[in-house]
Amino acid sequence: MTVTPAVPTTSAAAASTAAGASGSPYQSYVYAYPHKTAYRALPERPPLRGLWAGEPQHALSLYLHIPFCEVRCGFCNLFTRIGSPEGLTTAYLDALDRQAVAVREALAGDARFALAAFGGGTPTHLSAAELERLCDIAEQRMGADLQAVPLSVEASPATATADRLEVLAARGTTRLSLGVQSFIDREARSAVRPQKRAEVEAALGRIRAAGFPVLNIDLIYGIDGQTEASWRHSLDAALAWQPEELYLYPLYVRPLTGLARRGEPESPAAWDARRLALYRAGRDHLLDRGYRQVSMRMFRRAASPQATAGEYACQTDGMVGLGCGARSYTSRLHYSFDYAVDATEVRGIIDAYVATEDFHRAEYGRYTTSEEARRRHLLQSLLQAEGMEVADYRARFGSTPADDFPIELAAFGARGWLADGSGGRLVLSPEGLAHSDAVGPVLFSREVRRLMAEYEAK
Ligand SMILES: C[S@@+](CC[C@H](N)C(=O)[O-])C[C@H]1O[C@@H](n2cnc3c(N)ncnc32)[C@H](O)[C@@H]1O
Ligand code: SF4
Repeated sequence: MTVTPAVPTTSAAAASTAAGASGSPYQSYVYAYPHKTAYRALPERPPLRGLWAGEPQHALSLYLHIPFCEVRCGFCNLFTRIGSPEGLTTAYLDALDRQAVAVREALAGDARFALAAFGGGTPTHLSAAELERLCDIAEQRMGADLQAVPLSVEASPATATADRLEVLAARGTTRLSLGVQSFIDREARSAVRPQKRAEVEAALGRIRAAGFPVLNIDLIYGIDGQTEASWRHSLDAALAWQPEELYLYPLYVRPLTGLARRGEPESPAAWDARRLALYRAGRDHLLDRGYRQVSMRMFRRAASPQATAGEYACQTDGMVGLGCGARSYTSRLHYSFDYAVDATEVRGIIDAYVATEDFHRAEYGRYTTSEEARRRHLLQSLLQAEGMEVADYRARFGSTPADDFPIELAAFGARGWLADGSGGRLVLSPEGLAHSDAVGPVLFSREVRRLMAEYEAK
């Protein structure tokens, strides 16, 4: 296995790197553009009130980030720390409350939330009483009506306890997403995720008993020692619970994670080939069993309710993030706090967040331009299985993707990654979708590539 930098290191010349000419189908998971590693400290610390003035706020997304976990999994580079010493979760929720008050003041009086999510880390690291408080912050401070809008919450098996799930169900959670990764204990150990199958099955039983409309299960392929047979075994174990959604993640080994420190059991080419074969096997297995592919990673059971806006939030509405790992998006600025993976650095950032009294300004971020907005729109739509309505792009920007990205699209076409004759839609072919993590980075701007390449992992 090779360590995948948080960012692709391919050169800025889009044409030469277009369509993953550097080889690996696994360059970068583009779930948000630009990536946080392209954010920088904002020396002017712009006041939130000015940033949100004039922004459309009738259908905002609300995201609350809880940066605590019971363990640090070997593959994970999310912004999170192990455990919470006495009093830290209370202090964190106090800070979240202060931040919510400051952010609400910066929004319009009639701002409305159309979606909400609690993510991490592991939100269910909080106790049941603390989860009540988290919901109170979303409702009473921010004004989100959690009983009326889709609410997605991430959980791990050990923390998905009956009392926490009861609170989450009562407070309006429509989607419970459980990280499982593998149903095979040996593979979980190999991914440095100490968890037992029995514990996972018990958690799934509690989640189903709590009655959430949508259950999502996260699985990972490409783990050391995982074969097509063992992968199918995990998929079948997940399917036994008839989850409304399944996320199949290719394993990435990123800098400063436990797996990166452990070294490379196989060559990069062999690992890529194994991940691609496992992807195809997993995709075909789910399609055979009545699931619909939403994106490279996401599959939805036919006729199940849509509890979220899909893998990406809507391309135009703003996002309000609370908590020190959360991003916020206005049309002009994407902003957040500092980001790290290393345990000491993460602890320092959380401690600084908890000590913050004044949350009225944005600290880290990246201003967006019209060119970047086009890239973002194309990226977010093209990487969905249903692709992009060209007329929507033209209505928004006055041009077509072919006008703006001729070299990149020609390169995708030459690799057979675009579907033919899609009637006014730009759609990836099945092979294009399989190579989503190579397609995405080709559409990054030169400047974003430069910033990401210069970012030093910490
Ligand atoms: C916030 S966690 C899910 C909730 C909870 N923290 C847990 O782990 O059970 C996000 C998901 O991202 C996926 N993920 C994170 N890092 C990954 C990596 N390096 N490679 C593949 N998948 C990864 C995992 O499937 C994980 O469940
Ligand atoms: S995968 Fe989930 S539980 Fe594991 S460290 Fe990452 S956020 Fe925490």
